[in-house]
Amino acid sequence: MTLDLRLAPMAAVTNAPFRLVARERGAGLLTSEEIDARALVEGNARTRELASHRPAEHPIAMQLLGADPDVLAEAARRLEAEGADAIDLNMGCPVAKIVAKGQGAALMRDPLAAGRVFRTMRNAIAVSLTIKIRGGWDARTLNAVEIARIAEREGVNAITIHPRTRSQQFSGLAPWEIIAAVVDAVGVPVTGNGDVRSHADARAMVAATGCAAVMVGRGALGAPWIFRGDDVSRDEKTRIIRRHCALIEEHFTPRLALVQLKKHLAWYSRGLPGAPRMRDALFSAESPAAVYDVFWRVW
Ligand SMILES: Cc1cc2nc3c(=O)[nH]c(=O)nc-3n(C[C@H](O)[C@H](O)[C@H](O)COP(=O)(O)O)c2cc1C
Repeated sequence: MTLDLRLAPMAAVTNAPFRLVARERGAGLLTSEEIDARALVEGNARTRELASHRPAEHPIAMQLLGADPDVLAEAARRLEAEGADAIDLNMGCPVAKIVAKGQGAALMRDPLAAGRVFRTMRNAIAVSLTIKIRGGWDARTLNAVEIARIAEREGVNAITIHPRTRSQQFSGLAPWEIIAAVVDAVGVPVTGNGDVRSHADARAMVAATGCAAVMVGRGALGAPWIFRGDDVSRDEKTRIIRRHCALIEEHFTPRLALVQLKKHLAWYSRGLPGAPRMRDALFSAESPAAVYDVFWRVW
């Protein structure tokens, strides 16, 4: 069985350097971090930067966050014009200030409005339209199947589901049976997501749910070698980390590069004997050279 393993979108994490490393290590379709549709349409410089990608990232889905159908449609059109292979709608973001605007997971609460968003976006673009949903808003409103059926009817081409509810945030285990229910309910491909940390987990998810692909989020942090699933030697890991660091330095301004280096090197160091003591030094370092000095001593 070939396993279609994908990198999950993670805000401020799955930027171009990390996506490229994941692709080089065998990740399938990539997804950008969430992009604010309104800010993109208004030409916000930082948002435009977030929305950029490199040729080697294809195929890549660009993920939009928003609630207004017309704004989402316009943002989708622009991303398509800039080469996106698919447009993904974020229906899972749990952050309070996002859901207060009716965006992210809040879109799950209003199936009629969600249907209008799907229709307007579908009519705006020729590339695939995909959605990333949750099990529902809370335990009383587990409506992933209803939303998935509406999406299919409106021409959405594929669905990713992280089955926790918005209220659950990251607590408990992801209830994989909701993934299976969505797979059974629709004919479009369904990607399962939630708590996959190894190839064995991914195979178990496919066996339990029948999903067509598996998306890995936290399991790829500090471990972009997870996608091929073979044993990776220490030397190979070292090469991958060096490549990731070089891409970060090349891609970002020095200030942003420093933030990204610290964050990712802290993940790469997880589980190493000296890691807990290293963290303070790592996060107070003031230059890439100082960050590397701390990291490679522990690695
Ligand atoms: C730091 C972080 C940022 C995230 N940002 C996004 C995002 O921008 N868009 C999105 O759809 N999901 C986002 N998620 C959710 C993940 O894509 C994924 O659904 C969730 O982490 C469950 O998968 P996992 O158990 O493999 O981590 C984020 C998760 C994390 C941990």
